[in-house]
Amino acid sequence: MPASLVTASGSAHAAVLGVGSYRPRRLVPNAEIVDAIDSSDEWIQQRSGIKTRRFAGPDESVQMMSVAAARGALEHAGIDAAQVDAVVVATVSHLMQTPAIAPAIAHELGCDAPVAFDISAACAGFCQGVGVASDMVRSGSARHVLVIGVERLTDILNREDRGTAFIFADGAGAVVVGPSETEGIGPTVWGSDGEQFDYIRQTEDWRDVIAEDSPVMPTLTMQGSAVFRWASFAMSKVGLEAIERAGITVDDLDVFVPHQANMRITDAMARSMKLPATVRIARDVADQGNTSAASVPLALHRMVEEGEARPGDLALLIAFGAGLSYAAQVVRVP
Ligand code: COA
Repeated sequence: MPASLVTASGSAHAAVLGVGSYRPRRLVPNAEIVDAIDSSDEWIQQRSGIKTRRFAGPDESVQMMSVAAARGALEHAGIDAAQVDAVVVATVSHLMQTPAIAPAIAHELGCDAPVAFDISAACAGFCQGVGVASDMVRSGSARHVLVIGVERLTDILNREDRGTAFIFADGAGAVVVGPSETEGIGPTVWGSDGEQFDYIRQTEDWRDVIAEDSPVMPTLTMQGSAVFRWASFAMSKVGLEAIERAGITVDDLDVFVPHQANMRITDAMARSMKLPATVRIARDVADQGNTSAASVPLALHRMVEEGEARPGDLALLIAFGAGLSYAAQVVRVP
């Protein structure tokens, strides 16, 4: 008789227990970047809704911003770092191929030997992290999971590229996911479309860069119109599926926190999902720019702080970007 294995089991339900964020100190208005891209404040606001963004200073590293955001989330959740047994960091701007940044962040926070790893899914990374975390809590492979979305995109931004220089920015946001008596995180709807792998990417492969006589740091490049079309149409279907799979309707929704890519994409999604006027919509992109993996927790935390998202509210989170990759879920606001 072969030995049988024990089935892992965790909490019946998972929830977001706390949220925190870190915004870099330096506010950068459109006026500061328009000359390098032959643009104007008016054009940028009209095409993207962005008025200002934040650029990290030398001391505001990926690790520093992550630790600050995570401490805020832990405090909000009332959880000690020692109770965290998994740290998941979504980022594309930790500029070391290896090791991942998650173990160093966990160590600085004072977590006790947690599993710690990075997710490379660009703007979709945070919501993918929430999906992974809630599955870990339910399966029993972790009890409290810190999910951090963090970017220092200015390190890989071409300040003269008209298609990206006014969009991307820096920051960090974090949530604690843990056990709950009632369901706090609906099923995650996620996926990718590798046929559109080229739409948002690093300009060059590292091997091609170092083969050059005078190597130049690769930067971000994006096929803006194609991304705009994909995000506006395909992502509203993903959002509606997440609502349906959570067992609710758009009328039950209180808050909509989409990836802060661009105000026009947010508006197009809200229209095509036919969100009722009562749903409060995150519009953090206007002041913060597009911070990729950090944008959803930054926007959610701001709504919580400003009382626009209240404890117990139902919020649709959706994130999408390079890959192309996406993830969405309905969560109860902590
Ligand atoms: N400032 C001023 N004018 C600009 C400009 C800039 N930064 N970039 C392009 N233009 C001009 C072009 O020269 C062109 O002018 P023309 O009509 O006289 O030839 C016109 O604007 C349209 O250019 P195009 O490249 O087609 O821009 P667009 O209409 O697609 O707008 C974006 C560009 C980036 C605003 C738009 O594609 C977009 O919002 N994409 C989604 C980006 C996004 O949010 N990505 C994040 C997803 S994670």
